[in-house]
Amino acid sequence: MIIKNAKTINNKTVSIIIENEKIKKIDLDNNYLNYKDDNIIDANYNYVISGIIDPHVHMRDPGLTHKEDFNSGSKAAARGGITTFLDMPNTVPNTISKENLLSKKSMMIGKSYVDYGFHFGGSKTDNSDDIKNIINDAASTKIFFNASTGNMLVEDDKILEKLFEVSKIVTVHAEDKMVDKAISIAKKTNTPLYLCHLSLESEINSLKKAKDSGMIIYGEATPHHLFLNIEDVNKNDKNKMLLRMKPELREKKDNEALWKAILDGTIDTIGTDHAPHLISEKMEKLTFGIPSVEHSLELMLKKVNDNTIDLQLLTKIMTENTSKIFGINNKGLLEENYDADFVIVDLNDNSEIEEKDIITKAAWSPYLGFKRGGKVITTIVRGNIVYNNGIFSDTIIGKEISYK
Ligand code: DOR
Ligand code: ZN
Ligand code: ZN
Repeated sequence: MIIKNAKTINNKTVSIIIENEKIKKIDLDNNYLNYKDDNIIDANYNYVISGIIDPHVHMRDPGLTHKEDFNSGSKAAARGGITTFLDMPNTVPNTISKENLLSKKSMMIGKSYVDYGFHFGGSKTDNSDDIKNIINDAASTKIFFNASTGNMLVEDDKILEKLFEVSKIVTVHAEDKMVDKAISIAKKTNTPLYLCHLSLESEINSLKKAKDSGMIIYGEATPHHLFLNIEDVNKNDKNKMLLRMKPELREKKDNEALWKAILDGTIDTIGTDHAPHLISEKMEKLTFGIPSVEHSLELMLKKVNDNTIDLQLLTKIMTENTSKIFGINNKGLLEENYDADFVIVDLNDNSEIEEKDIITKAAWSPYLGFKRGGKVITTIVRGNIVYNNGIFSDTIIGKEISYK
């Protein structure tokens, strides 16, 4: 496969030569005719960026598949330009034993439109022996410091320390003061720490301080904590139910602090925290989470279009950093020998997000009516077109990633 007339994040027009699912060569003179290949895709001078890696999704498979499953969730991801995602362990059963991880892996084979990996869960009953046994089979140990969907809260300090000690990297759901608690355990046990969905200015300050002290620590922001706040929740009674999540939406000043932290490098990654629930479930009782894989890139591109961030920074926090933090092999950069994972985006298409763009089984989106900063035209995973202009491929090619 050759992608011709591809605009890079450095505003060069190139041809990308793909062989055996990898980027064989980037022809900086766009001389695609020099290569023998009949399968030529014309990017039409649109930007071709490295496929988005989403480090934080809840695909609900197994156990909660009326909300989402690996097939529907990965299809929504492909629509959004995501070529790799990392799935969280609060499925049913929770992914907290080696046995459950292996059975989840075998159940997901042949279901995903894009590539994927799994986070393992830390358990309140102390599963440190299991963690030792799956170290190269999962992206991280995910630990809940606050209660959320799935009953995975771990409170006992001794157990927390044991879980940290045996993990290659711990990702945490920690809010407010719990962020400081997670940081202090990571410091004590000398464990790399990844803070999911930072939402408060005070949390960013804690992260910054920890980074300055030399710790190996990373921070993630979600599109909803960047683009939505408490004013959206209070707009009407429906939003008071729909826009509930953990962490909750915060104040405008927190949105601003997050954007500032993206610009100064304190925030390392964007994760969607795609957390699908049916609208009926959301309206019935407080249910935490919103679907969002279809729209994270198109929303983030708004801030490229208004010059808040540039495409270099966007791809750094949505692909390169994510790949490096979790040690993902061959992904995250548009460079020779990397996997041929791309998304072609039209930055001039600033149309509104509509009902027909929604793919998730949850069947709703908090972003209807939002103007996109660019439109995902084509999503390519290891040289296979999985999504193109509203059409999805019939062949399911997604497979599990591996780690360094
Ligand atoms: O809003 C949330 N939803 N926060 C979480 O921590 C979990 C997630 C879910 O799985 O529903
Ligand atoms: Zn969480
Ligand atoms: Zn989550």
